[in-house]
Amino acid sequence: MITIKKIKAEDTYPIRLEILRKDIPLPYEFNGDFDEDTFHLGAFKNEKLVAVSSYMKASNSNFKGIQYQLRGMATLIEYQGLGMGKLMLEDSFSILQELKIDCLWCNARVIAVNFYKKMGLQTFGEKFELKYVGDHYVMFKYLE
Ligand SMILES: CC(C)(COP(=O)(O)OP(=O)(O)OC[C@H]1O[C@@H](n2cnc3c(N)ncnc32)[C@H](O)[C@@H]1OP(=O)(O)O)[C@@H](O)C(=O)NCCC(=O)NCCS
Repeated sequence: MITIKKIKAEDTYPIRLEILRKDIPLPYEFNGDFDEDTFHLGAFKNEKLVAVSSYMKASNSNFKGIQYQLRGMATLIEYQGLGMGKLMLEDSFSILQELKIDCLWCNARVIAVNFYKKMGLQTFGEKFELKYVGDHYVMFKYLE
């Protein structure tokens, strides 16, 4: 059984490190991890934390209204494709709607763009490179 729960910032670190920071000399702790508005979601499969994602209040001038940025979305390799990311994002949409947030955006790695598209996000603008991590698109979704 898969359950989605709010977790602490520190709980996201092992999966961030393994999936998003392997051989990448960038911090796995993010500015904003402990901000009051920030929340972190974890997907648990039989009590084991197998996927993480973080949501931080941050504005991008390309979008309107009150905004959150999605960061650190990662599923352990052996659990990818089983619905963890989808369930976490769906829960985040409900939480953000309750918080009356207008827009969720992220810097999406090119390999994850189609995952985000399936979840209703759209790309904005041109592809850009983030040092050490490669090509990205800004992606966004307005929450109804
Ligand atoms: C991208 C990632 C977070 C997706 O998480 P996940 O738990 O594997 O995703 P889900 O199983 O919930 O997938 C939901 C749907 O998207 C699809 N999907 C998942 N990853 C995809 C990808 N990279 N490209 C295209 N489709 C993808 C799934 O097949 C599934 O489709 P379905 O609903 O039709 O069955 C995960 O693959 C991952 O951690 N990748 C490496 C790290 C990374 O790139 N993170 C994003 C940084 S911006």
